[in-house]
Amino acid sequence: MVVKPMIRSNICMNAHPVGCERNVEQQIEYVKSQGTFSGPRNVLVIGASGGYGLASRITAAFGSGAATIGVSYETPAKGKRTATAGWYQDLAFRRFADAAGLPNRSFIGDAFSHETKQDVIAAVREMMGTVDMVVYSLASAVRVDPDTGEMYRSALKPVGQRYESVTLDGKTAELKPTAMDPATEDEIAQTVKVMGGEDWKLWIDALREAGVLADDAITVAYSYIGPDITFALYRDGTIGKAKEHLEATAHELDATLSRTGGHAWVSVNKALVTRASAVIPGVSLYLAVLYGVMKRKGIHEGTIEQMYRLFTDQLYGGDGPETDSVGRIRLDDWEMREDVQEEVHRLWDQVNEENLTSIADVAGFQHEFLQIHGFDFDGVDYDADVEV
Ligand SMILES: NC(=O)c1ccc[n+]([C@@H]2O[C@H](COP(=O)([O-])OP(=O)(O)OC[C@H]3O[C@@H](n4cnc5c(N)ncnc54)[C@H](O)[C@@H]3O)[C@@H](O)[C@H]2O)c1
Repeated sequence: MVVKPMIRSNICMNAHPVGCERNVEQQIEYVKSQGTFSGPRNVLVIGASGGYGLASRITAAFGSGAATIGVSYETPAKGKRTATAGWYQDLAFRRFADAAGLPNRSFIGDAFSHETKQDVIAAVREMMGTVDMVVYSLASAVRVDPDTGEMYRSALKPVGQRYESVTLDGKTAELKPTAMDPATEDEIAQTVKVMGGEDWKLWIDALREAGVLADDAITVAYSYIGPDITFALYRDGTIGKAKEHLEATAHELDATLSRTGGHAWVSVNKALVTRASAVIPGVSLYLAVLYGVMKRKGIHEGTIEQMYRLFTDQLYGGDGPETDSVGRIRLDDWEMREDVQEEVHRLWDQVNEENLTSIADVAGFQHEFLQIHGFDFDGVDYDADVEV
C-alpha cells in the first residue's frame, strides 16, 4: 500500500518501512565514516528500537563490532495499519547486522516484566556468556509492576506551580498555548515509578544474580536537564523527579558494580526530536529554536552523533568519562554552552506566530520528526506501493 504520514498533535500514527530502513542505514553509514574503536563486545540495549537506544546499538555493533541484544516494545502491522517505526527499525537493524556478520537478537516485549528479563538472560547465556555493557534507554508512559500487577502512568506535569507556555505543532507549524495544573503527589510518585531507576536496578540485579553480567560490565542510562526555559515542565516537573531518581540509582548501582571493576553512569544527553520528546509541551518549540542556533554555529548533532561521541570520547575513551560535580556525563555540553543558551533566550523572547519560521528551525524540526517515522528521506519513493 502507499503510506503517507498521519500526524496529530506531534504524534505520528504510522511509519514507512522503507524510510525506517533508510534511517537505520544512514546511522550505520555515519558510524562507519567515523571509524571503528575498541569498545564493548557483548551489549544489551533496553529500549533499542528508536532514539538514543537504537543509536547506542548501532554504535556498539558497527563501531566496536559488538554482539547485541535489543529489547523494545513495538507493534507489528495489522490489516491496513502499518507497524510502528521502531518495529521496522529493529527489523532493519537486524538485517544490516546479519549482513555484516554481527551477532544479534531482538526481543519485542515489556521490559518491565520478569518474563522479558528471564528470556533475555537465557539469550545472553546462550549467545554471549556474559554482557559487558547494558544500555538502559526506555521512554514509556506506563509500567506494570512485575510483582503486584499494579499499573503506573507517567505524567508530564509541573510540580508545585501552574505551567503556561506555547507548544509548536509540527504538522501545522502553529504555536498553541499550553497550560497545566501542578501534578498531585500521586502523579509524581507514579512518574518516578515508570521513568525512575527502579526497573534499571531490577535489570542489573537480575543479570548479576543470574551470573550473566561480566565483572567489569558498565551500564549507562540517559537523562536530560535542559535550560530554565523548560525547567518548570521538565527538570522541576514530574519527569525531572523521575530523572533525579534515575541519577540516584546510578550511584547505588555504581557502588555495587565498582567492587568488581564495573561502573554505572548516567549520561545527560542533548534535546533531540524523538517519539518521546516531541510530545512534551513547550519542548517542541524549544527544540526548533535550539536546532536553528546550533546549526548556525555548526554544532548540531543527532542521536547517532551523540552516541558515537558518548562511546568514543567518554565511555571507551581511555581515561574513562569526564563527569560533572555529581558524577554525570554531560553530552549536553554544547547545548548548554553559554553562547548557545544566550542566543536561544534572545530568540525565545521574540518568537511569535508571525516570525516563527524565520526565528526557529521549524523545517528542521518537521524534517527530523518525519524521518524518525521513516518519511522525508531522499531517494525513497513515497508514492510507491510498499509491503508493510
Ligand atoms: N529525546 C531527547 O531529547 C532526550 C534527551 C536526553 C535524554 N533522553 C532520554 O533517553 C531515553 C530514551 O528516550 P528516546 O527519546 O530515545 O525515546 P524513544 O521513544 O525514541 O525510544 C524509547 C524506546 O523504549 C522502548 N520502550 C518503551 N516502552 C517499553 C517497554 N515497556 N518495554 C520495552 N521497551 C520499551 C521503545 O520501544 C523504544 O525502543 C529516555 O530515558 C529519555 O528520557 C531523551
